[in-house]
Amino acid sequence: MKNNNSVVRKAVFPVAGLGSRFLPATKAQPKEMLPIVDKPLIQYAVEEAVAAGITDMVFITGRNKRAIEDHFDTAYELESELEAGGKTALLDLVRNAIPKNVNCIYIRQSAPLGLGHAVLCARPVIGDEPFAVLLADDFMDVDGGTKPVLAQMTDVFAREACSLLAVQDVPRSHTRQYGIVSVDPHEKNLARVNSIVEKPAPEVAPSTLAVVGRYVLTPTIFNYLEGLGQGAGGEIQLTDGIAALMQAEQVLAYRYAGMRYDCGSKLGYLKATVAMGLKHPAMGQDFAEYLEQIR
Ligand code: G1P
Repeated sequence: MKNNNSVVRKAVFPVAGLGSRFLPATKAQPKEMLPIVDKPLIQYAVEEAVAAGITDMVFITGRNKRAIEDHFDTAYELESELEAGGKTALLDLVRNAIPKNVNCIYIRQSAPLGLGHAVLCARPVIGDEPFAVLLADDFMDVDGGTKPVLAQMTDVFAREACSLLAVQDVPRSHTRQYGIVSVDPHEKNLARVNSIVEKPAPEVAPSTLAVVGRYVLTPTIFNYLEGLGQGAGGEIQLTDGIAALMQAEQVLAYRYAGMRYDCGSKLGYLKATVAMGLKHPAMGQDFAEYLEQIR
């Protein structure tokens, strides 16, 4: 077995956000429970972590997020109803939301102090190991035959053993929505980050290379998150922690293979729904015909 320094076994899911862009749908349910066709966003993210070999899922939750805990727990009444009705396919779906060897750990973030603060809340569980961070509202899809995005990144981590940020090019007019990096050329899909800034205005953004919601981080990041004050938007920013980490350790930007849908926005959410509807094994064909009809 490899030592702990090259294997990523733990993932952090910051899920305490309010989801105000999806009100009223998110008034009484977490935004991470919004479905893409028939599966909630958070389950897609957890499945991506499982596919990367991760076994400890650390959810940083807040008020109104209990549905996430219930989703990954046993649902006795539902299971016995389905069992009694002989609905084995549905029973399987409900029982196997998460593989048996996976641990779910829930930590409350008691105040909305920012993404950097949310990640810092995971420190007691992560300890001195590298870990992944997945933002469930960045929904990542890959073509058949391509590894899921986080698994691509843990493969790179096994080689490079340094922090990795998933990046993609965005229109300059969108830089205000992202952490933006500037990079040195390194190799095809991988580049050394030499600066990172949270949500810069288009006029001052150092590039148009944006960080999207997949990270693999070394535990050194906690030392820097701990001392951070408020950054952009008055929040404790993961981006500022990474900027400090970069002074001590190499940080690489990774251009992933795959398609990202920004499910924190209504348009991105609709696009993801259409893409996954078309890929759905049971109704993709009918849905494609319907879209053709209404064109
Ligand atoms: C967060 C990060 C930002 C990153 C983005 C990716 O911003 O702070 O650096 O680029 O996620 O989706 P948020 O979308 O939470 O405002």
